[in-house]
Amino acid sequence: MIVILFGPPGAGKGTQAKLLSSYLASEHVSTGDLLRQHVRDGSALGEKAKSYMDKGELVPDELVTDMVSDYIQKLEKNKGFILDGYPRTYAQAESLTGLLKGMGRSIDAAFYFQTDKDVIVRRLSGRRICKKCGRIYHIETMPPKNDMRCDDCTIALEQRNDDKEATILNRLAVYLAQSTPVLDYYEKKALLKRISGNADAQSVFILLKDALAPSTKAAHNR
Ligand code: AP5
Repeated sequence: MIVILFGPPGAGKGTQAKLLSSYLASEHVSTGDLLRQHVRDGSALGEKAKSYMDKGELVPDELVTDMVSDYIQKLEKNKGFILDGYPRTYAQAESLTGLLKGMGRSIDAAFYFQTDKDVIVRRLSGRRICKKCGRIYHIETMPPKNDMRCDDCTIALEQRNDDKEATILNRLAVYLAQSTPVLDYYEKKALLKRISGNADAQSVFILLKDALAPSTKAAHNR
C-alpha cells in the first residue's frame, strides 16, 4: 500500500508514520528526515536545502521531487510505503502521481490530521529528537526514560533548528499558503480522509487504523 500522511507542522505525521510503518511493515519515507540527513552529510542538496529549512520555508519543488523519486525508485519493488511530508505543494502532488503511474502503482489513501494551532505550537516547542535513529520525543507527553537521552541510542536528545517559536509560526503560515491546495488535489481524487490529530498519539493511531481499514481490504482484494 502507498499511504500519504498530510497535515500542518506538529500534527503528528512523523509519530503516526512510525507507528503505521511498523503496523503495515512498510517503509517510512519522511522528506524532512531525508533532507536533515543531507544537511548533516554536507551534500550539495543539503547545502542548498539548509537555508530554506532554517527559515521554515519550503525547499524548491524540483530538489525535493528529485530526492523523493530517487528514494522511491530504489525501494524494494512493490513494497508499501508511507509518505510523511510529501507532497506539500500542488506541483509535488502532480509529480508524485506521474512517478507512480510510470511504476504501475498508485496511492491507496491520504490522511489529513486536523490539529488546532495551540496544540501544534505546544507540540513543536516541546519536541526533542534523536539525531541518530530519528526517534521523536516530547518533553511532556513522550519524555525519554533517562535524563533527556534516547531510550534506544542513549545519545543526548536535541531540539530541531526549526522548532524555535518564530520559525514555527512561519512554517504554519507557509503550510497554509502552499500546502492546503494538496488537500483539494486528493479530495477531488476521493482519496482524502480527515482525522482529528488533537488527541494523544495512541488514540490518534486507533482513528488512523479505523480509517485505513477499507483501503487495506481493497488492497488485499486486488
Ligand atoms: P518536516 O520534518 O516534514 O516538518 P513538518 O512537516 O513541519 O512536520 P514536523 O516534523 O514538524 O511535524 P510532524 O507532523 O511530523 O509531528 P511529529 O510527529 O514530529 O519538514 C521540515 C522542513 O523540511 C520543512 O519546513 C521544509 O523546509 C523541508 N521540507 C520537508 N518536506 C518538504 C517538501 N515536501 N517540500 C519542500 N520542503 C520540504 O510530532 C511533533 C511533536 O508532538 C513531537 O514532540 C511528538 O512527540 C509530539 N506528538 C506527536 N503526536 C502527538 C499526540 N497525538 N499527542 C501528543 N504529542 C504528540
